[in-house]
Amino acid sequence: MINIVTGGAGFIANTLIDRLLEQGRRVVAFDNLKLGRLENLSRFYSHPGFQFVQIDVASPLSVCKALEDASNLGPIDEIWHLAANSDIPSGVANPDIDFRDTFLTTFELLKAIKGLPVKRFLFASSSAIYGDQGEIAIHENIGPLFPISNYGAMKLASEAQISAAVESHLSRAICFRFPNVVGVPATHGVILDFVRKLMANPDELHVLGDGTQQKAYLHVSDLVDAMLKIRDLTEDKRAVFNIGPVDEGVTVRWIAERVADRVSPSARILFGEGNKGWVGDVPKFKYSTEKVRSLGWSPVLGSQAAILRAIDEIACQQGA
Ligand SMILES: NC(=O)c1ccc[n+]([C@@H]2O[C@H](COP(=O)([O-])OP(=O)(O)OC[C@H]3O[C@@H](n4cnc5c(N)ncnc54)[C@H](O)[C@@H]3O)[C@@H](O)[C@H]2O)c1
Repeated sequence: MINIVTGGAGFIANTLIDRLLEQGRRVVAFDNLKLGRLENLSRFYSHPGFQFVQIDVASPLSVCKALEDASNLGPIDEIWHLAANSDIPSGVANPDIDFRDTFLTTFELLKAIKGLPVKRFLFASSSAIYGDQGEIAIHENIGPLFPISNYGAMKLASEAQISAAVESHLSRAICFRFPNVVGVPATHGVILDFVRKLMANPDELHVLGDGTQQKAYLHVSDLVDAMLKIRDLTEDKRAVFNIGPVDEGVTVRWIAERVADRVSPSARILFGEGNKGWVGDVPKFKYSTEKVRSLGWSPVLGSQAAILRAIDEIACQQGA
């Protein structure tokens, strides 16, 4: 069974590909290597069930050709669409980036698979589609939705496009709404950012915002467990699932202190102003995960434990 994984050279795809290969699936990974790294894929090269194709998924000709080549290996069973612009501040500075890498990748992929016997389309969506909902625990069926970043808007538009494709040519689609995900190989995110800053200047760590931002964090191993469980147990034509820890998350201040403990304990931590790290940052965020937990999934690690494990993993990855 062929599984396509877009964004295959990125962070989350790395654990997903590992688990799909373990389950005996053949995996063809697509990535343009804009944010992902070829070296992330090196551990898969000796596996006979793995192939990598370097393409821009937003380019209609390239994506049609790559899917045609993959179909020659066997019927394409599942498409895991993870390619996107994961660098949210860059999309704030230039909305074209989110339009192209987050929305157009979805749009072109959905067009290109018309006529192929794809059983499921599995989409990496985000809590960013909900915007700033304050202190309430956000359920999947809340609405109307008002995203506050271009990234969130393009993820929500992608979900809408996927829903329309189910009406015309997709048999089944699942949108996973991820929280902040941590682990390795890290390509972006708050821990990598702090580790890099402290390695460059062990005396000071400058934090974006006042450090009071509080969010839920999930380790990538728990996230991928949840995605596979949802895939196995969901028969709905269209489904959306929040995935996250059960706790209320941790503050950016706490993360900064823990990274400093690990990388440079004598560093002074200097905070910025306001409770947002950048335009479109959601300062406080509370997720309801009742739906995914009703399938029998619960995370092994809560937010604190996930962060502590990821700090160790990322510090090792960076040689700190
Ligand atoms: N990491 C998180 O905390 C988080 C949270 C919510 C949602 N998500 C979503 O999960 C998915 C995976 O995220 P990640 O953290 O692994 O990010 P990542 O940046 O490590 O992986 C995304 C990959 O997509 C590739 N890509 C981007 N545009 C492309 C294009 N036009 N054509 C081909 N490849 C392209 C990048 O090169 C990168 O390798 C993304 O869709 C992201 O939006 C991630």
